[in-house]
Amino acid sequence: MKKLLLSFIVLMSFSLQLRADEGMWIPMLLQSNEKDMQEMGMNITVDDIYSINHSSMKDAVVLFGGGCTGEIVSDQGLLLTNHHCGFDWIQHHSTVEHDYLTDGFWAMSFEEELPCPGLTAVMLKSMEDVTERVLEGVTKETSNEERTKIVNENIKKIKEEAEANTDYQVVIKPFYHGNQYFMIYNEVFKDVRMVGTPPSNIGKFGGDTDNWVWPRHTGDFSIFRIYVSPEGKAVEYSEDNVPYKPNYHFPISLKGAEKDDFTFVFGYPARTNEYLPAVAVNQEANVIYPVSVDLRGKILNIYNKHQEKDPKVRIQYASKHAHLGNGWKKWMGVVEGINNFKGIQKKKNFDEKFTEWAYKSRQRGAYLNLISDFEKLYAEYEPYRLATTYLSETALNIEILTFAAEFNKLAKVTKETSQEEIDQMIAAAKEATKVFFKDYYQPIDEEVAVAMLSEYIANQPADFRPELLNTIVNKYNDVQAYVDELFAKTMFTSEEDVNKFLDEFKASKAKKLAKDPALMAYNDVMDFYLNNIRTKTTDLNNQISDLQRVFMRGQMEYHAERNPEKMMYPDANFTLRVTYGKIGGFSPRDAVTYKHFTTLDGIMQKENPDIYDYVVTDRLRELYENKDYGRYADKDGSMHVAFIAGNHTTGGNSGSPILNADGHLLGLNFDRTWEGTMSDLIYDPSICKNISVDIRYVLFIVDKYAGATRLVDEMTIVE
Ligand code: ARG
Ligand code: GLU
Repeated sequence: MKKLLLSFIVLMSFSLQLRADEGMWIPMLLQSNEKDMQEMGMNITVDDIYSINHSSMKDAVVLFGGGCTGEIVSDQGLLLTNHHCGFDWIQHHSTVEHDYLTDGFWAMSFEEELPCPGLTAVMLKSMEDVTERVLEGVTKETSNEERTKIVNENIKKIKEEAEANTDYQVVIKPFYHGNQYFMIYNEVFKDVRMVGTPPSNIGKFGGDTDNWVWPRHTGDFSIFRIYVSPEGKAVEYSEDNVPYKPNYHFPISLKGAEKDDFTFVFGYPARTNEYLPAVAVNQEANVIYPVSVDLRGKILNIYNKHQEKDPKVRIQYASKHAHLGNGWKKWMGVVEGINNFKGIQKKKNFDEKFTEWAYKSRQRGAYLNLISDFEKLYAEYEPYRLATTYLSETALNIEILTFAAEFNKLAKVTKETSQEEIDQMIAAAKEATKVFFKDYYQPIDEEVAVAMLSEYIANQPADFRPELLNTIVNKYNDVQAYVDELFAKTMFTSEEDVNKFLDEFKASKAKKLAKDPALMAYNDVMDFYLNNIRTKTTDLNNQISDLQRVFMRGQMEYHAERNPEKMMYPDANFTLRVTYGKIGGFSPRDAVTYKHFTTLDGIMQKENPDIYDYVVTDRLRELYENKDYGRYADKDGSMHVAFIAGNHTTGGNSGSPILNADGHLLGLNFDRTWEGTMSDLIYDPSICKNISVDIRYVLFIVDKYAGATRLVDEMTIVE
């Protein structure tokens, strides 16, 4: 009976059909979602969101700094994004006298806005389907290898032709794992200036402790502005440049939003993998992530121990901690989510259904053996992927090794190398040395080295060990002894020694440099990786992507038969997308329910002057105590800080506008709840939620807290 019931449940839940809130849609193809969006409450048309015939919302969304999203909120090119997206620039402009990270920064006039050389904002102008042209010459008989060659040549040709006729940047990208290709025209703005940022204890409130976690109280925003030439051209920084006049900017709603209200997010999601076979998801979630989580957990423990002891070390390792900790925490969420959600079983059920379906028609011959072919390839892939993960999470987290690697060019200098080249290398090495020692604490690195090398030796088979590790095993028989000797003998632990060496450098010293034990260790590991691992993984990767392309095509056919009116969405690939869902809390586990918004009360509850992540400034406390929220208070009288909704977002969506049914700005997306981080592999609307900072909290900080009212005055406010 139990068995019968089980197979019934399995049958009922086999289909990985698109669920209400799932999907990151191509704005140009949003027609097929319009009805759905309007039924969910949207008051506008998809033509208001994306049009190339008239101004539309797409004219106000940019790829910010190559990795985040930003949105334009005034007719003078004012741009909002997350604090963690502007972070590098805030740090760049900070000095001991002007510590904008700690104190915040507010330009009180255009003149005070700070140039950020190298920072770009990329705006999509138009896109077109070029699949036919890209696949020209590819037939059923074309081999995979040949196909890749033809596709690359065609892309190059199409791109060159397009570039000859435009000033815009031209990008051609594969969608649906290479079943469709789009050409995208972008305007690349190169003069983007820093306008405002809250202090870190607002913009990063909760720090790494609260990262990925709901309830959340982070004022994760910063403000920039796009400048163009007086003629309106996107040019490099110049004093003569003027604020950009956009075709569209987002009106800002001060009305807030209720549970179940319709929202959509418009931005640049980086990468998802929703269409993998069970074997791939299993490898990711149950083999690879647990290793990364375990290794990073050990490193973070070492960091924590030293960071707690010494405030200087806490600052030195803050950014390293944030970087390692972000993935560590996310992957834990993915593993837990997939297992709780029985994700692997669901994928398996689908794989089986798919194969059964393939057997039903002669036309589906290409799909018959896909799943078993995947299984063979992934099995072959697994040890190599594991080794790659082990190498990158262990050796590459030993700082002395990656620092030494910066000297590789100098170590290869010969009598033939020109003095000019040598001088350039020395200058680069000097800069790297300065940057490295500013944030280096040797006791941490030694401990990490012992822990990570031991892990590698204990967990990887001997034939997957670089020579160095075999030497450790055979000669030292003790990782600690090797590490002690490494740190005693290398010059890379002393800033003074390194600088002295650089000052006296000449070609004849290259050999000595190449013999430094840290540099040798790095090169030994790298050579092993390149020769013994990477060739194999590249080859397997190519074979897997070829299969995945066919599997994707099959899934699209399978889906179209069942759901002809709604397309499947392509995996995220750093192109502009729209996703939509409703505001609302969720229940992450038994007896726990999350409300959909947080307030300033929560900040005061978390406040702790002794814990760096939870410091609250007197100014914020004063505003709180006087309930001095002005027009930014919710109608319930409190100051709303953050909220969650069912939008399908991922990395890259940071800073994305979250909009209401009228297309007015409600907030900025900045994170997901970690119970739902599995959404990059499998989406479940009951737990996959995106976290946004409430725009009213943003404006409250700009206006009431910082007095930068001139910025709010530029915006279009809907009360
Ligand atoms: N989890 C967010 C993302 O994936 C925010 C990361 C930055 N914040 C932090 N506390 N480390 O990018
Ligand atoms: N914080 C992420 C980012 O920087 C967004 C969160 C997510 O992965 O959804 O893009």
